[in-house]
Amino acid sequence: MTERTFSIIKPDATRRNLTGKVNAVIEDAGLRIVAQKRIRMSRDQAEKFYEVHKERPFFGELVDFMISEPVVVQVLEGENAVARYREVMGATNPAQAADGTIRKLYAESVGENSVHGSDSLDNAEIEIAQFFTDAEIVG
Ligand code: CMP
Repeated sequence: MTERTFSIIKPDATRRNLTGKVNAVIEDAGLRIVAQKRIRMSRDQAEKFYEVHKERPFFGELVDFMISEPVVVQVLEGENAVARYREVMGATNPAQAADGTIRKLYAESVGENSVHGSDSLDNAEIEIAQFFTDAEIVG
């Protein structure tokens, strides 16, 4: 089934000028970037986006990191895009990520792990709506 998922290229990757390299892995995996913009996330946006993690000990650090530098938010489209992108990103902890995945290639630590991807189709819809209007998504 053709799906859409939400992606963020995180500050550790934008800082190192890796946007193009991450996008190459995404496109080589057969996913199409149907919306993309570079933004600086506000604290409110980051806290809302990561609300499910607000009781975790790393929440404050995570929010500070996500607003520390610009990020690139994206909508990716393709066959089973949610699961496919999670495969392409690799494990949350780059030390456990498989060869060829974005996190194995580029991520620095579990906190600064270069990319985010939605974990379900329902969350993809919620996350996309937090950053994009329908008119900004061109399939
Ligand atoms: P992400 O997929 O964006 O969703 C939640 C994020 O929390 C995750 O990627 C990591 O960047 C971050 N995270 C998860 N576990 C830890 C941890 N133990 N310490 C710091 N950050 C973490």
